[in-house]
Amino acid sequence: MENHLPPSPGEQRLADSFPIIQRHAWFNHAAISPWPAAVSSAMQAYVAGNAKDGPIGYGHWLQVERRLRERAPALFSQSCADDIALVANTSTGLNRVAHGLDWQPGDSVVFMANDFPSNRLPWEALARLGVEARPVTLDAHDPERSLLAAIGPSTRLLAVSSVHYETGRRLDLTRLGEACSRHGVLFCIDAIQHLGALPLDVDAIEADFVVAGSHKWLLAPEGLALFWSRPEARALLDVVEPGWRMFPDPFNFARPDWTAPASACRFEPGTLNTAAVHGLEAAVSLLLSHGMKQVGQDLLDRTDLLTEALDSVPGIWLTSPIERERRAGIVSLVIDGIDPERALAQLTLNGIHAAVRGRCLRLSPHFYTPLDQVESVIRMIRKMAG
Ligand SMILES: Cc1ncc(COP(=O)(O)O)c(C=O)c1O
Repeated sequence: MENHLPPSPGEQRLADSFPIIQRHAWFNHAAISPWPAAVSSAMQAYVAGNAKDGPIGYGHWLQVERRLRERAPALFSQSCADDIALVANTSTGLNRVAHGLDWQPGDSVVFMANDFPSNRLPWEALARLGVEARPVTLDAHDPERSLLAAIGPSTRLLAVSSVHYETGRRLDLTRLGEACSRHGVLFCIDAIQHLGALPLDVDAIEADFVVAGSHKWLLAPEGLALFWSRPEARALLDVVEPGWRMFPDPFNFARPDWTAPASACRFEPGTLNTAAVHGLEAAVSLLLSHGMKQVGQDLLDRTDLLTEALDSVPGIWLTSPIERERRAGIVSLVIDGIDPERALAQLTLNGIHAAVRGRCLRLSPHFYTPLDQVESVIRMIRKMAG
């Protein structure tokens, strides 16, 4: 990106905290995020410590893990560490739900037909148990109505992604959760495109299960996810993968009693990805110190700017929602007569990193993305369209 003036102290602080902005305009947080300095420092210290002194620091590693468990509930507007399991990825959390429930032949599960495969395949795989999969094509004007219309007496669970990976559409989770409670249906949310981007209050939306991987909006490494579950819903899930680390004193290898605990630790059979734990702990601390309300506002301000500036341009078709309350961090669009891969290549040549999903060019800034980078992207895309 071109830059003619020396940075102001504020710009310098931002560039120190988010080194990516020194060399790139990163508009691809909906895929994989670059690490803030605090995250890479935490991981580097862990890596250097083990290389130099070996796992003598194991006690400290466990403290970092404990800190992550204490801080992570705030992302869900909760305070109880017992309700969050650390699992390998979003898919693992969703599969824990799919494989843990005592499905009966004739039960049904409702989900989004065009959802990311992680939130379709586990439900489709239940056919072997006689469970009816009900994929729903969403009405563009009232997507919640389409999902709720598919719920019937046999429905045990509704599974949605709170923000769609391609269109960026954010669902009205409060409306869905209220209807699920009313019908006695479990409500399971893939929040990988939401957590770390916007606040989430699992009580307000009456969620039962929420899972989100670390490597997108949470600004942390791959290979770790936060899996929140409501205690009463969690009790319905069998422990299908038992293991030593789910017990309160896991190092008591000779214990006679191996009854799985009631806490979400029951979904954690073995050793965690400790490097990722260090990274996620630092990332969660960073997001919470900025405040998730502020993170959400700053991010929506950026997607507002993109939306408002591009919506009025002839030859550009926004495929993401116009309304702020229907959006999170994704703006997607089609440029008349331009192949999205060609548009992407042109952006990349100019140091702007985005993605193509389906027929659309997908732009996903984060709360820290400098506004002049947002303006450059707008200029570039306008030029391509015109
Ligand atoms: C909505 C959604 N769910 C799940 C995933 C993948 O999740 P994981 O690899 O953590 O299982 C993605 C990745 O792009 C996604 O967009």
